[in-house]
Amino acid sequence: MLTKTKAYALKGLEGQAVEIEVDLTPGVPAMEMVGLPDAVVKESKDRVRSAIINSGFDYPIKRITINFAPAETKKEGAIFDLPVAIGILSAYDQIPTNCQDGYVLLGELSLDGSLRKINGLMAILISGLQNGYKKYIVPKENQAEASFVDGIEVYPASNLSEVVNHLSNVSPIPRLETKKFNGKNETSKYGVDFADVKGQLKAKRALEIAVAGGHNVLMVGPPGAGKTMLAKCVLTIMPDLSFEEAVEVTKIHSVAGVLDASQGIVTSRPFRSPHHSITVPALIGGDRRAKPGEVSLAHNGVLFLDEVPEYGRTVLDSLRQPLEDGVVTISRVLQTVEYPACFTLIGSMNPCPCGNYGSKNKECTCSPSQIRNYIGRISGPFLDRIDIQIEVDGISFGEFKDKASGEPSEKIRERVVKVREIERERFKGSKTRTNSEMTNEDIKKYCEVDRESQNLLELSFAKLGLSARAGFRILRVARTIADLEGSDSIKVEHIAEAIQYRSLDKKYWK
Ligand SMILES: Nc1ncnc2c1ncn2[C@@H]1O[C@H](COP(=O)(O)OP(=O)(O)O)[C@@H](O)[C@H]1O
Ligand SMILES: [Mg+2]
Ligand SMILES: [Zn+2]
Repeated sequence: MLTKTKAYALKGLEGQAVEIEVDLTPGVPAMEMVGLPDAVVKESKDRVRSAIINSGFDYPIKRITINFAPAETKKEGAIFDLPVAIGILSAYDQIPTNCQDGYVLLGELSLDGSLRKINGLMAILISGLQNGYKKYIVPKENQAEASFVDGIEVYPASNLSEVVNHLSNVSPIPRLETKKFNGKNETSKYGVDFADVKGQLKAKRALEIAVAGGHNVLMVGPPGAGKTMLAKCVLTIMPDLSFEEAVEVTKIHSVAGVLDASQGIVTSRPFRSPHHSITVPALIGGDRRAKPGEVSLAHNGVLFLDEVPEYGRTVLDSLRQPLEDGVVTISRVLQTVEYPACFTLIGSMNPCPCGNYGSKNKECTCSPSQIRNYIGRISGPFLDRIDIQIEVDGISFGEFKDKASGEPSEKIRERVVKVREIERERFKGSKTRTNSEMTNEDIKKYCEVDRESQNLLELSFAKLGLSARAGFRILRVARTIADLEGSDSIKVEHIAEAIQYRSLDKKYWK
């Protein structure tokens, strides 16, 4: 008899329904799978067979043909274990005819018949919902993730027997209840707060501007100055995570297999800090299975590159596409997939090999050519995407022993959120979301400057030797500074402050 069972496959974050046909015919007992890669097939056959037998069912002593349609999708076999097993049981009349109709079955089987967690469930369920599929059986380990998708019926099962008992109505599984999402940003989540950072008012101000306008930042300063500590505080001043943003992040983390299964959804913005030995595929995404990389895992959050010059040149250059487009495209032999990769980049670096160049308190022992070589390791495409550069020097003893705590992150966050609201209003109906993403058209429209500001800009172009690109960056940052002040127009003091965040161009990269 021929049976049909519904499964689901993912290509990147896009899902597609797959129909699995099982046919039993007399002949030499064997299982043939049509339409899956060999290695996947072999493992899947063994798991399905053992799971069926170890769950106490009869395994057909017949020729089993299994066909996956459409043929061009897939092809990660493990997720098809459950529907394949149910298809076989159905074809062999171990369960009522067609009782699996109307369900999408998802899950990897262990040899003993228990259901294992699968990756990418959130993406599958949302795609399934959009394509009109209503009922799902999922591994119980995945149930938290499934509980955040509204508008579908989900039945979580621990093993093959539970699935069979549910489908044949012997012992129905209760429908999974949906959960409420809470993405409120609370500083207690992070164990750091800007209030704990002594001094460093200029750096804190720069990071506030950066988060408010979505600008990327590079911090330059000697070891121990507090750069890493400052970077870690950035999340504490970011806006609450909306449900839509959380779903985007969760899909990516789930596909990559790094989602906390007990949480089921990401509730805080990600902070990713890959080591400088990272490879391009690990950063951008790729490997054999076209998995998302660090840039996508950092989506809607922060990507922190500590000691930027230590990263390879090709690694830094590979950031060009995500920094420009907010997405990455990964091409593999079998498929091309796209993942979102929209993050705030925070970079930090020493100004020279010994770390003390430009420091007030310590002596640099490097030669000018050593300094040039070190700084020269980062260049072009990378620097072009940095709106704000700041020097961070170690704090003085006076600042260090000062008992007074700084302004708490919560207060700073309130100002950031106000600016984000202004931006939402300003860019309503356009692709641009933050000031940092403004196109040249947007800049024309939203960054008009008066005569005085124009003069200042001209003067600094000459003095600092700025490029036109740098000029646009200054205007974008000045827009954010004006927004923080609640000012519609960009004033000369906003331009003046924005220019300061370019001063390292002249010092290091000219
Ligand atoms: N401004 C500061 N206020 C409080 N602690 C600081 C400050 N600057 C540095 N520290 C302390 O010094 C340590 C080293 O700072 P770190 O952020 O690692 O410096 P860097 O990354 O610049 O080398 C931090 O863990 C922190 O405890
Ligand atoms: Mg550091
Ligand atoms: Zn030095």
